[in-house]
Formats: sequence, structure tokens, C-alpha cells
Amino acid sequence: MDKRYEEYRQGVEDALGEAFALRGFPFDGLLEAMEYSVMAGGKRIRPCLTLEFCRAAGGDTKAALPVACAVELLHTYSLIHDDLPCMDNDDLRRGKPTNHKVFGEWTALLAGDALQAEAFALILGSDLPDRAKLACAKSLAAAAGVDGICGGQYLDLSGDGKALTEDQLTELQSRKTAALLVAACQMGVHAAGGDDAFLDAAATYGAALGAAFQIRDDMLDELADETELGKPVGSDKAQGKTTFMTLYGREKCQQMVDRLTNLAKQALEVFPDPGFLPELADELAKRNK
Ligand code: IPE
Ligand code: IPE
Ligand code: MG
Ligand code: MG
Ligand code: MG
Repeated sequence: MDKRYEEYRQGVEDALGEAFALRGFPFDGLLEAMEYSVMAGGKRIRPCLTLEFCRAAGGDTKAALPVACAVELLHTYSLIHDDLPCMDNDDLRRGKPTNHKVFGEWTALLAGDALQAEAFALILGSDLPDRAKLACAKSLAAAAGVDGICGGQYLDLSGDGKALTEDQLTELQSRKTAALLVAACQMGVHAAGGDDAFLDAAATYGAALGAAFQIRDDMLDELADETELGKPVGSDKAQGKTTFMTLYGREKCQQMVDRLTNLAKQALEVFPDPGFLPELADELAKRNK
């Protein structure tokens, strides 16, 4: 991938590490559990999207770093909860035992809760102008709530053991996965004080990329190598989930991913320099982890 992606990724990694180091450990177990999942790696796609959209919209990526980290904290909370026994009941995440396997269920639950709150604290405590902070907090809240992750996860789990239609699946995936990618992209534009044309482009790119991302995720749940993927293969089948793989199989899924990837790239036309955003979409369309 692009050299700048690696610089962003490292910057996010360092900033997240510092956030925990500065806090100290008055509540040993809770902060340890939060840090365990946040610092377990992960591709850091969402914060890197925030930073690249900020740059593409003419903003200062250093000023946007707390906002980028906020997206990653919120994402990590959603993964901790997604793995719980009452949800997907998975044992492996980011190549390590899941949070509840190490710290127990109630600590994992609270670690997720706290990460969600800390995400908003990072935005509100940043040095961005008030207008940008407000817009970022609004975007993240929309992606986290009923119209986003929680609503999507509710539909996802309500569908366990049932046959869902393509429309139902599209609806649930756009909430549980694409909404946060839309927010990640738009928060970069907000941090830069970008105009509506940039915001619309960020939303279109994020939505198409997010839809492609979850279809590819469904493919990897059946086809990937577990060690490379860093999470269990076969989880969706074990939970009786309808996915795009059960509806259409590998070949048609890849066609859908490729079509959505092209849609995402087309949305970038409004940016004078979209940087690594087109290449990232292409990379994610064929990712194996
Ligand atoms: C996993 O997201 C959850 C989905 C939305 C499919 P990622 O594949 O971005 O997970 P990490 O952050 O790299 O671990
Ligand atoms: C859930 O989708 C996405 C989230 C909102 C966490 P999955 O349940 O398919 O994600 P993975 O495969 O466990 O990462
Ligand atoms: Mg799930
Ligand atoms: Mg899962
Ligand atoms: Mg999955």
C-alpha cells in the first residue's frame, strides 16, 4: 500500500498507545481490557480514511488525528461486543483470544461501553474548531446508533436462523458496517472544514466501499485462512446467518464487490488529489484479511 497509509497507520498506532499510557491504570482490569483490544493491531482502515479525506479536502491531518482515533475506538468497541457469547460467540479476534475469553464477559461488555464513550471524549477534547467537533460527533453518533451499528447488529442477530432477502441483507449491512465507514470518511472532511460537494463524495465513497467491504468479509468467513484472517472462519454458518455468500456464492459476490468498488472510485472525481483512496478501494476488493 501507499507510503502515506503506512505513515497514518503508525501515527494512529502511536496516538492510541499514548492515550492509554497517559491514563495510568486506576481501574486495572477495565483499562487493561480496553487497551488489549485496541492495541491488538487491526488494519486501521477507518482512521486512515479519516486522515486521507481530511488531506484531500485541504485539511491538516495532524489536527484530525484525535478524530481518526475516535473512529478506531468506536470500531473496536463494536468488535468486542460482536464477539460476545450473546452475539457471534467467537474466540479469536485480531489474531488473539477475544476480549471476553481473556477478561470475562462483564469486563468485555464494560470495556466496549467505555470505548464508545471515550471515542466521543476524544472528539470533544480535540483542538479542532467547535463547528468541526460538533459535525464529527454528530456523524459518529449517527453511525453508532439505531441508524448505524446498533440498528444493523439488531437486524443481523434477529436474522440468525432465518432466510433473509437481498434487500434485508443490504439494509442490515449498510447499517452495521457501511455507516461507520461513511462516518470515517465524512469526519475527515468535517475536520478539514470541507464543503457539501466533498461531504457528498465522502458519503458515496464510504457507502459503496462499506457495502463491498462487508460482502468481502462474508466471503472471507468461508474462504479465508484463519491464521491470516486473525478471526474464526465459519462463524456465520455456525450462527445460521444469511450472508451474500449463502445467497450468491463466491463468483457473484466478487462481481458485486468489484462493481461497488468502481462506484466508490467514481465518487472521488470531485477531489483535486484523491491520494491513495482509489488504490485503497482496489486493495480492499481483493483483501485476504
Ligand atoms: C471487521 O472490520 C468488522 C467488519 C465490519 C467486517 P475490519 O476487517 O476492519 O477489522 P480490523 O479493524 O482490521 O480488525
Ligand atoms: C459485524 O459483522 C460488524 C460489526 C459491526 C462489528 P461481522 O460479525 O461479520 O464481523 P466479523 O466478521 O466478526 O469481524
Ligand atoms: Mg456479527
Ligand atoms: Mg462477528
Ligand atoms: Mg464477518
